[in-house]
Amino acid sequence: MEQPTKLVFFFLLVITCSSCGADASPKQHYKRVREPCKRLVFYFHDIIYNGENAKNATSAIVGTPAWGNRTILAGQNHFGDVVVFDDPITLDNNLHSPPVGRAQGFYIYDKKEVFTAWLGFSFAFNSTQHKGSINFAGADPLMNKTRDISVIGGTGDFFMTRGVATLSTDAFEGEVYFRLRVDVKLFECW
Ligand SMILES: *[C@@H]1O[C@H](CO)[C@@H](O)[C@H](O)[C@H]1NC(C)=O
Ligand SMILES: *[C@@H]1O[C@H](CO)[C@@H](O)[C@H](O)[C@H]1NC(C)=O
Ligand SMILES: *[C@@H]1O[C@H](CO)[C@@H](O)[C@H](O)[C@H]1NC(C)=O
Ligand SMILES: *[C@@H]1O[C@H](CO)[C@@H](O)[C@H](O)[C@H]1NC(C)=O
Repeated sequence: MEQPTKLVFFFLLVITCSSCGADASPKQHYKRVREPCKRLVFYFHDIIYNGENAKNATSAIVGTPAWGNRTILAGQNHFGDVVVFDDPITLDNNLHSPPVGRAQGFYIYDKKEVFTAWLGFSFAFNSTQHKGSINFAGADPLMNKTRDISVIGGTGDFFMTRGVATLSTDAFEGEVYFRLRVDVKLFECW
């Protein structure tokens, strides 16, 4: 009676230890590896409606504080303005390059003292290169040369993806046009 019990106990120990070891190594591996599984660079172009360019504007102020209006961005760093956009995405920095998709969503200017916004949008792709969407959300402190926002998910070619996108303002023309460079680093790829 005593011997088999001891034997079972020994095997239990071995099993426990080996599974402990197997558990620990992937965790350590996961912590160390910080290389993206996919990296993509895009540009998107925002032409803001200014009362005169209804034809080629790609974005519009849809909400503003009581002291503002929906034609011109409000004072105090545009605080409170909500802008909806449907912008072309290109692979280079040329507005007139064939678009590979649309950047669709909104930004909210959310601080009086500093020029900063909150972004929530999707890249909707319907091109030979990419099909599906990548969804983005996060704070965009516009005065910083580069800003990281979260890639919170995706569909199609980007099913269940997650990662970080580094934004930089590639060009800025008054309050009518800006172009963002988006360096998408995906850390979960399926
Ligand atoms: C908007 O369209 C007008 C007329 O076609 C053009 O002159 C202007 O350059 C366009 N604006 C931008 C930012 O492309
Ligand atoms: C909108 O606000 C801007 C800036 O405050 C002002 O210059 C402009 O006259 C306003 N436009 C209208 C239509 O109220
Ligand atoms: C995607 O492109 C195809 C081919 O041009 C078109 O038939 C389809 O309607 C497009 N889908 C969307 C969601 O735009
Ligand atoms: C902005 O940039 C500065 C310096 O380049 C950095 O210390 C800071 O963390 C950045 N802020 C954000 C929110 O990215």
